[in-house]
Amino acid sequence: VKKITTHQLQNMKERGEKISMLTAYDFSMATILDAAGTDVLLVGDSASNVMAGHETTLPITLDQMIYHASSVVRGVSRAFVVVDMPFGSYQGNSSEALRSAIRIMKESGAHGIKLEGGAEIKESVTRILSAGVPVMGHLGLTPQSIYKFGTYTVRAKEEAEAQKLVDDAQLLQELGCFAIVLEKIPSELAKRVAETLTIPIIGIGAGPHVDGQVLVVHDMLGINKEFKPRFLRRYADLHTIMTDAVTNYIKDVKSLDFPNEKEAY
Ligand code: KIV
Ligand code: NA
Repeated sequence: VKKITTHQLQNMKERGEKISMLTAYDFSMATILDAAGTDVLLVGDSASNVMAGHETTLPITLDQMIYHASSVVRGVSRAFVVVDMPFGSYQGNSSEALRSAIRIMKESGAHGIKLEGGAEIKESVTRILSAGVPVMGHLGLTPQSIYKFGTYTVRAKEEAEAQKLVDDAQLLQELGCFAIVLEKIPSELAKRVAETLTIPIIGIGAGPHVDGQVLVVHDMLGINKEFKPRFLRRYADLHTIMTDAVTNYIKDVKSLDFPNEKEAY
């Protein structure tokens, strides 16, 4: 299989072919998503919520991200694997940022990293890029700053914040980022960014006028029932399928139906 590269993602934008991206945190899921043809797998720090049960993305550590990332990389033969740099591993100190990025690349075998923010993290982005590590930006709703925002509502509805987002996106492109995720912002603003910039813009809750889409895989598979923002489309109801399967297993164990003769040695 031909592996996806940053160069191919760039070509996809130029051809108008939309980029498909999903999160992945473990080997088994990564194998399925890769074989189905997902272009980019994101080892998101949403693992903090989805895998570890934390309320925010802040607690997950660099070691934990590397564990998830290395599991995902072992399941992939085609997809481009991007790993979120966790909160505290890159903000405010570009040499620590570089050290963290190098640890992710070396210890997991991933293909690139993602970090949240624009002008504030300029030095970190520059330094990581100068080491030859592909960097994906992330603007709009940036969950590592949740205690600054206070809520998970739509970002950049006001012109001042919208203008800062446009400037940050432009800056990230100039620094050399290969793509940018825009999370939970008005469709028209995302369109403006995708049309202005030459690098791929991947949206989540950012409308259709961008170069690709990303969703948290557990959300789109319907594993988790509670989280239902407007931007989420559910492609399966695995919560029900899994609950039914487990209920039937329990019933069969209790009723001595499982295992039967064919299932025993
Ligand atoms: O951590 C994550 O899942 C993300 C995506 C929602 C873009 O950053
Ligand atoms: Na993230």
